[in-house]
Amino acid sequence: MDGGTGYGRQTPRCEADLTEVGAGTPCGEWLRRFWQPVALSSDATVRPKKVRILGEDLILFRDRKGRPGLLYPRCMHRGTTLYYGKVEDEGIRCCYHGWLFGVDGTCLDQPCEPEHGLHRDVARQPWYPVEERYGLVFAYLGPPEKKPILPRYDILEEIGADQDILARQMGAQTGDGTMPVAPYSWVHLNDNVIDPYHVYVLHSTFSNVQFSHQFIIKPHKVDFFYSDVGVCYSAVRQMPDGRELDRVSSFIMPCIMSVPDTRGDLQHRRSSRIGWIVPIDDEHFTTFSAGTITKGETALFQPLDFNGKTWAQMTDAEHQDTPGDYEAQAGQGTISLHSEEHLAQSDRGIVMMRRLLKEQMKLVAEGGDPINVAYDEKSAIIKVPSGNFFRTPGKAAAE
Ligand code: FES
Ligand SMILES: [Fe+2]
Repeated sequence: MDGGTGYGRQTPRCEADLTEVGAGTPCGEWLRRFWQPVALSSDATVRPKKVRILGEDLILFRDRKGRPGLLYPRCMHRGTTLYYGKVEDEGIRCCYHGWLFGVDGTCLDQPCEPEHGLHRDVARQPWYPVEERYGLVFAYLGPPEKKPILPRYDILEEIGADQDILARQMGAQTGDGTMPVAPYSWVHLNDNVIDPYHVYVLHSTFSNVQFSHQFIIKPHKVDFFYSDVGVCYSAVRQMPDGRELDRVSSFIMPCIMSVPDTRGDLQHRRSSRIGWIVPIDDEHFTTFSAGTITKGETALFQPLDFNGKTWAQMTDAEHQDTPGDYEAQAGQGTISLHSEEHLAQSDRGIVMMRRLLKEQMKLVAEGGDPINVAYDEKSAIIKVPSGNFFRTPGKAAAE
């Protein structure tokens, strides 16, 4: 029998529950319960900037008193965009008739109205709360009465006197930051975070060695487990010198990764970075990262090595010869066709993560508070389990 040909196959479909991020969708409402980074702090300036997140177009600016603001772009007067507005001490002034809006959407001036607007408080320019931390501007797009505390991450709080925090926007996983807007669903990268096997195949043995040479060794033991804050994997490798390398990597709810060091000769230490996978809309995402650096350093990541070239320098044939994360993830299409997947043993982490996401979306739809949402400072600390941990069998302490 010539079974399994392409003829007559089912129309493929994606799991919209996972991929749709707009307001009113199960995933979009769940994602809106969290603070999401929307820009580097250095990108919030007196020059209005377009920002798109979770399917919403917004305008980011910083008033001349230094406060960042994030407003709906269509001016509440007659709808022109605030992209052409001018920033003043107290807010942003629309170019058309000069209405002035504060960072909280309050209308502060209507210059063509009697007494500068006797009724200017009848409406408010739609706005979202923003806060800054770790060099990033975070926005909260959810129901105001459910606004949580902006969380802290222990690995970014407990830093040495010779260290600083550096933030970067990366986007698609090209390794050189050349594509800040990745042209495919956020779920592709989310899945990738909890996939230790592609580190061995894609990054180490199929292509050239893109990360550490230690990843050439296939992990002999892989566990996936739920943590208090998401899903982790532990991938254990036998090093030639007798030590074991236990690499613990984490997916943190709702769309955060903490991947331990990947470059060079790996050291015994905890992860030093947090990365946010921020959906722009159903078909695009960007990423922001914040991590510790030694004071004076200017890079959070070294560009990935593709046979001596960066991703942007490669020819199409070289992309075929040495594909990396971008090729593998973009190759899954704009939105994964989940009905065509055949998840296997090695995908246990992805199954666990997707199951948790759906449970959390249901919880939010039923009025509950999702994991990693906290309303008091003490509970708003997220402990990150990730790291590269070396140990010698038979010895208690790690080296
Ligand atoms: S459209 Fe903005 S002030 Fe008139
Ligand atoms: Fe990867």
